[in-house]
Amino acid sequence: MVILSNAAYESERKSSIVTVGLSIHNCPVEIREKMAVPAEAWNDAVAELCAYPHIEEAGILSTCNRMEIYVVALSYERGLKEVEEWMVKHSGVDVESLRQHLFVLKDRESTGHLLKVSGGLDSVVMGEGQILAQVKNVFAMGESEKAFGRHLTGLFKAAITAGKRVRSETSIASGAVSVSSAAAELVQMKLPSNSFDGCRVMIVGAGTMSRLLVKHLVSKRCTEMTIVNRSAGRVEELAADFPEANIKLALMDEFLPLAAEHDVIFTAASTGVIVTKDDLASMPVASACVDGKRRLVDIAVPRNVDADCGDDANTIAYNVDDLKELVEANKEARERAADEARELLAQEQAGFEAWRDSLETVPTIKRLRGKAETIRATELEKAMGKLGDGLTKKQMKAVEELSRGIVNKLLHGPMQALRSDGTDPAQVSQTLVNMHALEDMFDLKNPDAPTRGRK
Ligand SMILES: NC(=O)c1ccc[n+]([C@@H]2O[C@H](COP(=O)([O-])OP(=O)(O)OC[C@H]3O[C@@H](n4cnc5c(N)ncnc54)[C@H](OP(=O)(O)O)[C@@H]3O)[C@@H](O)[C@H]2O)c1
Repeated sequence: MVILSNAAYESERKSSIVTVGLSIHNCPVEIREKMAVPAEAWNDAVAELCAYPHIEEAGILSTCNRMEIYVVALSYERGLKEVEEWMVKHSGVDVESLRQHLFVLKDRESTGHLLKVSGGLDSVVMGEGQILAQVKNVFAMGESEKAFGRHLTGLFKAAITAGKRVRSETSIASGAVSVSSAAAELVQMKLPSNSFDGCRVMIVGAGTMSRLLVKHLVSKRCTEMTIVNRSAGRVEELAADFPEANIKLALMDEFLPLAAEHDVIFTAASTGVIVTKDDLASMPVASACVDGKRRLVDIAVPRNVDADCGDDANTIAYNVDDLKELVEANKEARERAADEARELLAQEQAGFEAWRDSLETVPTIKRLRGKAETIRATELEKAMGKLGDGLTKKQMKAVEELSRGIVNKLLHGPMQALRSDGTDPAQVSQTLVNMHALEDMFDLKNPDAPTRGRK
């Protein structure tokens, strides 16, 4: 069996999938924000792209970290030029400045990239799942707006499947990779029941870190907590943003008496030390759900919990360095899982490419049928001319059926050789070899009439 090389496939493609993009890896936010396409402008943007003469299908993935345009172009060079022209018009950024940051991918590179993005392997936080939801959203918009044809539909479906598999079949998404999520994860991991059930939880501070802490605690089904803050305004706002949680509010002057009534205390206030070993010595022991040992988790820098608090017999104290270790360990675990994820992505990509390659034979099938039909009709007409009026209607019908029968029987073998459902890459390769051979034999390479594309 002859397997065509990738390069051979590419040179034979009649249309290309092209990705033109900017991302956090290669483009500053000043340019990215000019390029952004909000959801409400998505339809108009893809309609403008599809109105260009060489763009058949279009989709835009616009998030805070990336803006990527996926098109199916009848000609790679012209399609790319048209996308660039649209980007300049849309953003007001001149083409030279734009090109400094753009990346351009074609066919296999392009599909490989979208699968990687969808799997979270191109994200700043490896394995994060928000991007998969964003890819799904683009797919839904592309389908409903009919901006997607069969190529982008197939590509985005493959990307979503790949993203789901990465999340469900590897451990890439597990393990906290931020300080606040690590704080919640570490405590949960160390609690005797591995759950916050029954624990009296307190947070000190109502800033960015405390807000994230509440989010991660709630996601771990910890919905009862007290938040203590210097001022009332911010803490009230925070509590209002989490209606699913039962949050009690208090001010800093109540901190120590309230701390005595809590089992797990997270501290994230931008002030100095607020708990000392002496303070702890005067507190009653914590409840049974923490085995009587109060957990102090200090994520503030400078620290809110005095350095020797961990020496108190009834206290276990963690600081930001303990959390960093967990974050680093989780990051390393994610990197290891990424290797498994890359294998899954390669499998999904091979499946998609095989399917796409199988589409390549459709124009050849149409041209071969068209050519045979033209010959049959011409020869039948000639024969009818020679036979004159001597034939009855029934005889004429029999001759016509004879011509059709011969053509269909002769075409049966070549047609079989051009058909593939795209599931088996080796079979697709053989089909493409057959396609090239038939195109040479029947002179089908340069048809007068185009048989594909919506343009
Ligand atoms: N942001 C990060 O990525 C990050 C990462 C790791 C650790 N940290 C540390 O976490 C702590 C909080 O950071 P953040 O980003 O959440 O800060 P933030 O958004 O500025 O919030 C600061 C919090 O500290 C309180 N606060 C400020 N000055 C205070 C004072 N003199 N006495 C009592 N409370 C005071 C504020 O109360 P009001 O609402 O009354 O102003 C607010 O609740 C800091 O120590 C920071 O170094 C931050």
